[in-house]
Amino acid sequence: MPESGYYNSKKSDDLCEDFCGENSRSPLSTRLKCALRGFDIKALLLLFIGVPLLVLFIHIHGQKITYFLRPLWDSPPKPFNVIPHYYHPNVSMETQCRLHGWRLRESPRRVFDAVLFSNEIDILAVRWNELSPYVSEFVLLESNSTFTGTVKPLFFSENRAEFAFAESRLTYGTVGGRFVKGENPFVEESYQRVALDQLIKIAGIKEDDLLIMSDVDEIPSGHTIDLLRWCDGIPEKLHLQLRNYLYSFEFHLDDKSWRAAVHQYRAGKTRYAHFRQTDDLLADSGWHCSFCFRHISDFIFKMKAYSHVDRVRFAYFLNPVRIQEVICNGADLFDMFPEEYTFQEIISKLGPIPKSHSAVNLPGHLLQNADQYKYLLPGSGNCRRDSG
Ligand SMILES: *[C@@H]1O[C@H](CO)[C@@H](O)[C@H](O)[C@H]1NC(C)=O
Ligand SMILES: *[C@@H]1O[C@H](CO)[C@@H](O)[C@H](O)[C@H]1NC(C)=O
Repeated sequence: MPESGYYNSKKSDDLCEDFCGENSRSPLSTRLKCALRGFDIKALLLLFIGVPLLVLFIHIHGQKITYFLRPLWDSPPKPFNVIPHYYHPNVSMETQCRLHGWRLRESPRRVFDAVLFSNEIDILAVRWNELSPYVSEFVLLESNSTFTGTVKPLFFSENRAEFAFAESRLTYGTVGGRFVKGENPFVEESYQRVALDQLIKIAGIKEDDLLIMSDVDEIPSGHTIDLLRWCDGIPEKLHLQLRNYLYSFEFHLDDKSWRAAVHQYRAGKTRYAHFRQTDDLLADSGWHCSFCFRHISDFIFKMKAYSHVDRVRFAYFLNPVRIQEVICNGADLFDMFPEEYTFQEIISKLGPIPKSHSAVNLPGHLLQNADQYKYLLPGSGNCRRDSG
């Protein structure tokens, strides 16, 4: 009852007044009590328990809080110039080029698809099958080191037989890890990208050929690459807007993926990069499926090998039972807030991703082999992963 509390503290104040007043002969202990009379017991609790708890909370959740407050310390990147994208399977290439303000070429450009490979075997199969009709040369580089400097098997090399359809057009290379302890993972990543630049040259790329620069899980749609190889007048560098999915094509997060890019190759100038290089962004050009793995062990591997390994703040994040639950719920593996630039967007994205029931306009290879890729498709129970 607040009122009686008020009277109680009033009373003790009066008591103090009686003892202390101007009477300097009171015993020390009483004077100490009096000195503290301004603080009531709640204030003391707050000071000696609340403040340390708050410090501990900020220490544990600091990164989370920083993300939630992002709209205060970060401003959104400059908006892209989004190029409308026109496509229907029955519309001729000449019409498609014209709809974009481009002109049909007499022959298509050559296309090089270059990736740095980690362990995404299934997604690589989906990617290469999607792009195969349009790609002249596949370029794949893998290292025996993850970006965070732990030893990894050469997964592609072990599974190479599965990719026989690409073998005659494949330039495969490996690079040894540097295994520097405690280094920022972005250093190893950029070292591997430089090695990939060399491999692209070895693959025989020439002036004007198209070079796809994207992570394995950023998959341009085949018809997008077909359009770009057949039309003159396309921007020299172009980012691709992809639909963002998490864990499978059941969880459609947003359409904001933009890192994938297609460049017309310029000898001595073109560098393989994964950051923003131009303002032009072609709308609705494919799919970005993050953490789309078959085995729980692949999730654990990726969480540790990832350039943002600092997000694994607690050992229990790597618990397989927790990971399976997070996948089926469409929740966040790292228990983070959405990476957005306004509070409105952060709040609208809080909580799990709603399930999508659409498997329309997905990579063809997925549906042609639906039994094999069930875990990537919408449908009840499909979110369960092999525990191995
Ligand atoms: C697509 O084109 C074919 C052949 O020109 C035609 O037979 C078919 O009706 C067209 N389909 C649609 C959906 O327009
Ligand atoms: C990684 O690969 C390089 C080059 O092939 C090799 O020299 C090195 O021994 C390998 N390291 C490990 C730990 O496997």
